[in-house]
Amino acid sequence: MTDKLIIFDTTLRDGEQSPGASMTKDEKLRIARQLERLRVDVIEAGFAASSNGDFECVKSIAEVIKDSTICSLARANDRDISRAAEALKPANSGRLHLFLATSPLHMEKKLRMTPDQVFEQARLSVRFARNLMADIEFSPEDGYRSDPDFLCRVLEAVISEGATTINVPDTVGYAIPELYGNFIKNLRERIPNSDKAIWSVHCHNDLGMAVANSLAGVKIGGARQVECTINGLGERAGNCSLEEVVMAVKTRKDYFGLELGIDTHHILAASRMVSQTTGFVVQPNKAVVGANAFAHASGIHQDGVLKARDTYEIMRAEDVGWTANKIVLGKLSGRNAFKQRLLELGVAMESEADINNAFARFKDLADRKSEIFDEDILALVSDDGAAHESDQYGFVSLSQHSETGERPQASVVFTVAGKEVKGESDGNGPVDASLKAIESLVKSGAEMVLYSVNAISGSTESQGEVTVRLQNSGRVVNGVGADPDIVVASAKAYLSALNKLESKADRVAAQG
Ligand code: KIV
Ligand code: ZN
Repeated sequence: MTDKLIIFDTTLRDGEQSPGASMTKDEKLRIARQLERLRVDVIEAGFAASSNGDFECVKSIAEVIKDSTICSLARANDRDISRAAEALKPANSGRLHLFLATSPLHMEKKLRMTPDQVFEQARLSVRFARNLMADIEFSPEDGYRSDPDFLCRVLEAVISEGATTINVPDTVGYAIPELYGNFIKNLRERIPNSDKAIWSVHCHNDLGMAVANSLAGVKIGGARQVECTINGLGERAGNCSLEEVVMAVKTRKDYFGLELGIDTHHILAASRMVSQTTGFVVQPNKAVVGANAFAHASGIHQDGVLKARDTYEIMRAEDVGWTANKIVLGKLSGRNAFKQRLLELGVAMESEADINNAFARFKDLADRKSEIFDEDILALVSDDGAAHESDQYGFVSLSQHSETGERPQASVVFTVAGKEVKGESDGNGPVDASLKAIESLVKSGAEMVLYSVNAISGSTESQGEVTVRLQNSGRVVNGVGADPDIVVASAKAYLSALNKLESKADRVAAQG
């Protein structure tokens, strides 16, 4: 019998809770398809009861994804559980993930419930859920800071009621690897029916130890499920990073002795997709997926790697999807070649109209840029500054003038509900002038909390990818735009963020 480690990805739920990382339904579907291609065992698609938007996302993902189990988070109450079960109806394989806080602090200050009330609610909620679905996960929120005696009592009861997975969250990232590993080991040893459930780890990265803690939970504690996110995306310092935990278990199979279902070749594409969709840039020295993760700068290292790669490399770059930067398409490439490359990159477009729209933008880019890389194509399809029919605002054209010693001027033509308008302004620089030109007509009053530019393929010939994060009335949204002209990319990113502010989705924080 193989000892398998289940990979549970929560990029679309816990990852999305990161301020500014909220995604549209189409973006979530695209990422879910990539997670399926990665052969993730469980995809936590959202928190169905938190908003109608989240409900629709979970339902659509359950309709489309057939190879991974689809999971929805739910608070431990009948309404949330019914709503999650409803959203999961189309799934081939569905899971309900119930959570209820068990630490003294959360019970007293947040829930204002006694331990006995929490015990009862946990037990009855699992009983209720079990009547709707066979696959039930239970998480005692802030589990690691809970009293072990109380936790044993609650977890024994929920397993008796039929919970099939027990997840032990380190909600606030307080754990230390050895202590967390032993915490899980003790729970498993003390709870008489612990062998009836699969044990799972869920670690936050506040002290930079989410991956180490998760691995200790597996090695010392005997957990057989890890909850993680692509690029470690998540609130505050994030969650355990999928790519790091997977590559640690694979590279050190001699130590962990565990099987994984993951097809690691799709890791890099998943990382780029999540980064480009959310605007959360991956740091160059990030393990596995950072631009420098396999780059050898020092002469001694380069010499060693050329003679025998394992002198300085413990993993093969190709195994996680790195290929030499290659020109994939050009000006003469046809629609079929473009469509095929989209499929290989994991971008499935819903309709022929979407493909035609993306292909027209590709042709436009190919006219201005002779070499088109995979990164350009990914940026092009996640460039939501390009107009979609349902958008309130769409970019049309821009002209700007800047000269040393003079104040830059910009004029931007864009659509508002399909009608063309032209805004004009000056500014500190051409980007500032262009965004002020848009704002002069839109008057959103939004505060810009982040502006960043990234050269997609590393040279001045490359496209600039701009991320704009706006905040308005307590909502934080990201807009991403790409273009060889970074002023145009900035205007597209700004309009994309304004579109997201327009689509008002009310949300309930999972841990609120
Ligand atoms: O961190 C946490 O406690 C969670 C739970 C909802 C599982 O994300
Ligand atoms: Zn969490």
